[in-house]
Amino acid sequence: MTAQPATQVLEASAGAPPAAVAEHAARILAAGGLVAFPTETVYGLGADATSGAAVARLYDAKGRPAFNPLIAHVADAAAARALARFDHAAERLAAAFWPGPLTLVLPRLAHCPVAELATAGLDTIAVRVPSHAIARAILVAFGRPVVAPSANRSGHVSPTTAQHVLADLRGRIELIVDGGGTPMGLESTIIACLEAPVLLRPGALARAQIERLVRLAEAPRAAAPPSDIEELPIAPGALASHYAPRARLRLNAQRVEQGEALLAFAAVPAEGAAHAAAVLNLSQRGDLIEAAANLFSHLRALDASGAPTIAVMPVPRTGLGEAINDRLERAAAPRA
Ligand code: TXA
Ligand code: MG
Repeated sequence: MTAQPATQVLEASAGAPPAAVAEHAARILAAGGLVAFPTETVYGLGADATSGAAVARLYDAKGRPAFNPLIAHVADAAAARALARFDHAAERLAAAFWPGPLTLVLPRLAHCPVAELATAGLDTIAVRVPSHAIARAILVAFGRPVVAPSANRSGHVSPTTAQHVLADLRGRIELIVDGGGTPMGLESTIIACLEAPVLLRPGALARAQIERLVRLAEAPRAAAPPSDIEELPIAPGALASHYAPRARLRLNAQRVEQGEALLAFAAVPAEGAAHAAAVLNLSQRGDLIEAAANLFSHLRALDASGAPTIAVMPVPRTGLGEAINDRLERAAAPRA
């Protein structure tokens, strides 16, 4: 995929999505490309959820200053069960409201194939089965989970027409499937089923409908962020809000101290690297998109090496480097 793709717009009718359009979209996704498509809520910007590189490109296209976790979209509940663990409440909600505008945040399964970057290194994953015919056709044709944040630039409101998507993302993504206006125009409702079910984001499915089936616990944080504005991470206090390694992180390291593991960047060797407990390079060729794709999995692997400290070489703050540094700084922050 090229750095500056020409954005193709293909019309599909929501009633009968041409199979050819869905097949075309699936081929672009399989090649690591970015495809905007309508859902019943808002337009999503889709990428292959199992490819760290595709997910990194997605963050880059949206211009997100931080890696917020993304929703994995799948064709049916069976596909969702291959990603996450469903408790009783989650099963009831899925049975009642899928396909439809409900997202569930659930414990991520150990063998979940979704890239760590897509879940921002968390042990939880957001999953949703959309009901829109075009979204469904693409998910069926692709056959793998698709991460899809709202298809707008960071800081802008969620798009409800293909024209909105084009205005924000022209020249940054490969394809927009135009299915006309989205029926609901409001993002999905997000419920976490980790302990007692909690409403994380109000959305297109009303709270009252959910409460007919399950009791919602009080959200740990009073004010939910506005649902139409990017993009406060909405994991409230009681949930892990970011990936926290066991090891201490030492940032902007130029040399490796005794016993440290090394998270390298680019081809410049760090002093003492030969003696490091373990070494992984975010991107030998200094590519920030590749570095983003490797960030969480490399941190986890170095953490697993047992070294008490991970020395992290400087990563430039341009492009995705801003989000990479944001995550590294959070992971390095002292914890209670
Ligand atoms: O209606 C929708 O949900 C649309 C369509 C395209 O499906 N998608 C959407 O995605 O609104 P996005 O990325 O704009 O918003 C997803 C929200 C973010 O605020 C993110 O922080 C939260 O879901 N989220 C994702 N994974 C999470 C997790 N594991 N724990 C807590 N919050 C999570
Ligand atoms: Mg959004």
